[in-house]
Amino acid sequence: FRTLDHVDVKGQRVLVRVDLNVPVENGVVTDATRIERAAPAITEIADKGGKVILLSHFGRPKGRDPKQSLKPVAAEVARVLKRPVKFADDCIGEVAEKAVAAMKPGDILCLENTRFYPGEEKNDPQFVAALAKLGDVWVNDAFSAAHRAHASTEGLGHLLPAYAGRSLQAELEALGKALDHPTRPVAAIVGGAKISSKLDLLGNLLQKVDVLIIGGAMANTFLMAQGKSVGRSLVERDLVDTAQKIMDEAKAAGREIVLPVDAVVAEKLEAHAPSRVVAIDDVEDKDMILDIGPRSIEQAVSVLARVKTLVWNGPFGAFEIEPFDNGTVEVAEAAAELTAAGKLVTVAGGGDTVAALNVAGVVERFTYVSAAGGAFLEWMEGKALPGVEVLRAQ
Ligand code: 3PG
Repeated sequence: FRTLDHVDVKGQRVLVRVDLNVPVENGVVTDATRIERAAPAITEIADKGGKVILLSHFGRPKGRDPKQSLKPVAAEVARVLKRPVKFADDCIGEVAEKAVAAMKPGDILCLENTRFYPGEEKNDPQFVAALAKLGDVWVNDAFSAAHRAHASTEGLGHLLPAYAGRSLQAELEALGKALDHPTRPVAAIVGGAKISSKLDLLGNLLQKVDVLIIGGAMANTFLMAQGKSVGRSLVERDLVDTAQKIMDEAKAAGREIVLPVDAVVAEKLEAHAPSRVVAIDDVEDKDMILDIGPRSIEQAVSVLARVKTLVWNGPFGAFEIEPFDNGTVEVAEAAAELTAAGKLVTVAGGGDTVAALNVAGVVERFTYVSAAGGAFLEWMEGKALPGVEVLRAQ
């Protein structure tokens, strides 16, 4: 697909789809990562004399809802960019058209939440046309929304010349290095609570990685399939057979699955609840598995030391609650050290994962941490992303 290297934006009205769907509490943006990722494309286009018109959704409003206005987020964009950013109270129609008509080369304008119109999620041709009227070209820089075939993430690619923005480009490059054309051997860490939400992901990974390290509550279902007792731990009983099938398939394909060999257990999920480390065969009826133990940490770290690429989604334990973040933090720290030593390529993503790696303080030291949640998961599932496919089609 084409990138900002392939377009002369000077004097052009450039519709830039960014993902300004950032966490906001009491009108304050609490994590500006997505804005920071979008900054290079925005400043590049503005510096080249383009008129930057930012498009984004925010939250999941049902119609026009002032509580879900992008206005405070636009103010944060201005702070991050250290440049003025104008705001228009609508994303189509007269208000938006007037604001665009008043722009000069290098100006930045943010339009109101595209999801105020049902046509956005429906990818309604009339709504797409109303957006397309505002621009000469379309730049998609929202990888984290590329799993949605919506008007501003996909539809515009059928009406306007389309280009990938810098952060979308960087995401695809990093993710490609992790799964599509990685330096082998490749390991994946898959954690989190439920197998049921990650069946497609596990299926795709089994075809692509050499070692699959399973953690989080989803490991309990695999352990149960192996006949171990997991006490009162979170477990998906109806998926025990599925877990067994996954292990059989892995074996047949010569893939290695690594499960915890010990665990940190407690009787309740509370900060600093009394806990003990037990071997995985010694979990008692009253116990809840809340993290991996030291031997499992060692086991994971020894895998990382013998592979060249790691792709990570999902925490090992209940990382939001101390001390059950320990397994995730220790393994993340080891991965960051191997990365710094040039021995390992580390790519991670998915909402919870980024939060967990932030707790571990390793985000800056990983090769690449995706800003995407759902889109990262769909990519790990091997699915085509509509917002990327439409760029490839041009
Ligand atoms: C995200 O936060 O993952 C993206 O912005 C997509 O948001 P959505 O799940 O509401 O479509």
